[in-house]
Amino acid sequence: MPEGSMGISNIATCTAPVNIAVIKYWGKRNEELILPINSSLSVTLHQDQLKTTTTIATSRSFQEDRIWLNGKEEDINHPRLQSCLREIRRLARKRRSDGDPGLDSTGLSHKVHICSVNNFPTAAGLASSAAGFACLVHTLARVFGIEAELSAIARQGSGSACRSMYGGFVQWIMGHQDDGKDSLAQQVEPETHWPELRILVLVASAERKPIGSTSGMHTSVETSCLLKHRAEAVVPVRMDGMIEAVQRKDFPAFAELTMKDSNQFHATCLDTYPPIFYLNNVSHQIINLVHQYNNYYGETRVAYTFDAGPNAVIFTLQEHVSEFIQVVRHFFPPETNDGQFIKGLPVNCAPLSEELKQIGLEPIPKGISYIISTKAGPGPCVVDDPTQHLLGTDGWPKKTE
Ligand code: DP6
Repeated sequence: MPEGSMGISNIATCTAPVNIAVIKYWGKRNEELILPINSSLSVTLHQDQLKTTTTIATSRSFQEDRIWLNGKEEDINHPRLQSCLREIRRLARKRRSDGDPGLDSTGLSHKVHICSVNNFPTAAGLASSAAGFACLVHTLARVFGIEAELSAIARQGSGSACRSMYGGFVQWIMGHQDDGKDSLAQQVEPETHWPELRILVLVASAERKPIGSTSGMHTSVETSCLLKHRAEAVVPVRMDGMIEAVQRKDFPAFAELTMKDSNQFHATCLDTYPPIFYLNNVSHQIINLVHQYNNYYGETRVAYTFDAGPNAVIFTLQEHVSEFIQVVRHFFPPETNDGQFIKGLPVNCAPLSEELKQIGLEPIPKGISYIISTKAGPGPCVVDDPTQHLLGTDGWPKKTE
């Protein structure tokens, strides 16, 4: 974008998605470069329901790099933020010194203003750092005119962020090099590959997680021999099985691996010393309910997975969504029936048989605050409409109220 009246040399706005791992990343072999001890695989969630939006501007009039997240200024000196900024500026300088004729070098030495918002509550424990760092890196690259592979930079913001750089089904190949150059995300299948697949985020609690992933996995690497076994012997086999299940759209195989891998991740948390508990009573009830439901039908129709918090993410096929939602509504009766319980993609109302009402334990009223109904979606996108920029023409955050 050409230089504006207030000296903005470049400005860009992008959006990026949340992803949910079905083969979990847990544990680093290099904490600074964020290199994992095992590969992982995730599904990128649709940005219509969950996304981060980021605007970045450069200007010769900016005194220093600054960042605002969800309306509040944050510390730009955060080491992971600095890694991403440094890596992008390094690539931009390299392009200039390589003499790329298409490069507009205005703004290369300028400071940046970064403004970012989520369309979902950060405190809901929904992998906001993955979408946040993916969006930061994608937008920085746009502002500085870089078209390189970016997942290795997003990875240095937050490991799981590298998988948010692509849509659909994405693997993060752990790599083996010490410099991390081969530790990259790669799309396995695009978001259009399995249109029947549906995803339900069951928000069990709006509380912040007790132990963050970064410190939790650090303690696990130090103390859990189950984690070592998992990384060396279990995950490599599961990655092959999961890629095959996704490619063949084999729901029972996909679902079984997803549940087993979530359970093993939480088992490694329990094997950590002192142990880490991310699941609560509601999470345990959901696990129980999914198995009872599948058992009732004699086939695997629904799968759960849990990250470093109590929220369940459910995978199922379109044809089973409405009934399973009624099951959830029955066993976790919401406070009100005003339709606010289900957000996102519309869900038809299906009657619930008396038999299905018997499959679970005692209902837990208000155990789930709401459900986000979504599906697989695309990777980061550029927002072309200049009215959508979060920074004004003066380069400062627009007033929202
Ligand atoms: C349980 O990517 O948040 O969600 O690399 O330290 O930032 P850092 O950790 P982070 O860990 C995510 C862990 C997980 C599993 C997963 O997403 O694969």
